[in-house]
Amino acid sequence: MARHRIIIDCDPGQDDAIALLLALASPEEIEVLAVTAVAGNVPLALTEANARRIVELAGRSDVRVHKGCHRPLVNRLETAEYVHGETGLNGVELPPPGVPLAPGHAVDAIIELVMAAEPKTVTLCPVGPLTNIAMALVKEPELASRVREIVLMGGAIGLGNVTPAAEFNIYVDPHAARVVFESGVPITMFGLDVTHQVLVTRPRLEAIRALGTKVALAAAGLIDFFNRFDSDRYEVDGAPLHDPCVIAHLIDPTLFKGKPCHVEIETEGRSMGRTNVDWHPREARPATATVMNAVDADRFFALLTERLGRL
Ligand code: RIB
Ligand code: CA
Repeated sequence: MARHRIIIDCDPGQDDAIALLLALASPEEIEVLAVTAVAGNVPLALTEANARRIVELAGRSDVRVHKGCHRPLVNRLETAEYVHGETGLNGVELPPPGVPLAPGHAVDAIIELVMAAEPKTVTLCPVGPLTNIAMALVKEPELASRVREIVLMGGAIGLGNVTPAAEFNIYVDPHAARVVFESGVPITMFGLDVTHQVLVTRPRLEAIRALGTKVALAAAGLIDFFNRFDSDRYEVDGAPLHDPCVIAHLIDPTLFKGKPCHVEIETEGRSMGRTNVDWHPREARPATATVMNAVDADRFFALLTERLGRL
């Protein structure tokens, strides 16, 4: 049996797509129990169809994809077409999904899969706004004690990427993030401080394209488009591949380093969506997440390239 049995909750999004491909290319380490879609980078109607497109691209139409929440718990949905393009998967032309949505709401699917499994054997891997995860935790009182871990992409020790204070996934639904970070479930957090260390530079992109397979060429097209916004904004050669960090960590936990910290979520005001990470720590409050801040980027890309080549 695979070391990790996971549910990937996502808002594809080019980097979500690469994370899905990496997970589906790694059956020895990862069993994907389901993919659940949430509104985020683009509206839900697109994220759920994009999730289905990607599982089909990976040749894994057997993987169930559920549609989740179409808006944050409290705030109005803010999307990011300015980064991901109008479709959310700009950079590649994929046909409309052939595989149907799995029956049932994503929130119910998360609850059903976790509660049906042996306690603490299912890992939740959210790489978009945390709306579905929060709703599941609120709906099923036993869920928090049954989940093995939440390994998420979101937040930042330092600067945000939507405002100076807030990273997109937390900014879009800060109330959901507060529910998750206060749930007591063990959390491993991949924030911008570490994801901005895995920049997909031109040589790294060309190594993926050189694989020459349908999946690799699609991944290269997605990354090429994804690169343009961050490269301009941060004046660096290549965008940060945020979401695949979550999956790469599950495959090879030696890639990343971090430490347990107390993390508090700001839900209002000018810093709404900020993850206040007590890194030093200054306050004697219990750690609520392992916050990652270092990665071996060359080994990360070697793993990603090798695995994409398997599909
Ligand atoms: O801030 C980066 C995160 O927001 C990534 O998950 C990206 O896909 C977007 O959802
Ligand atoms: Ca995402």
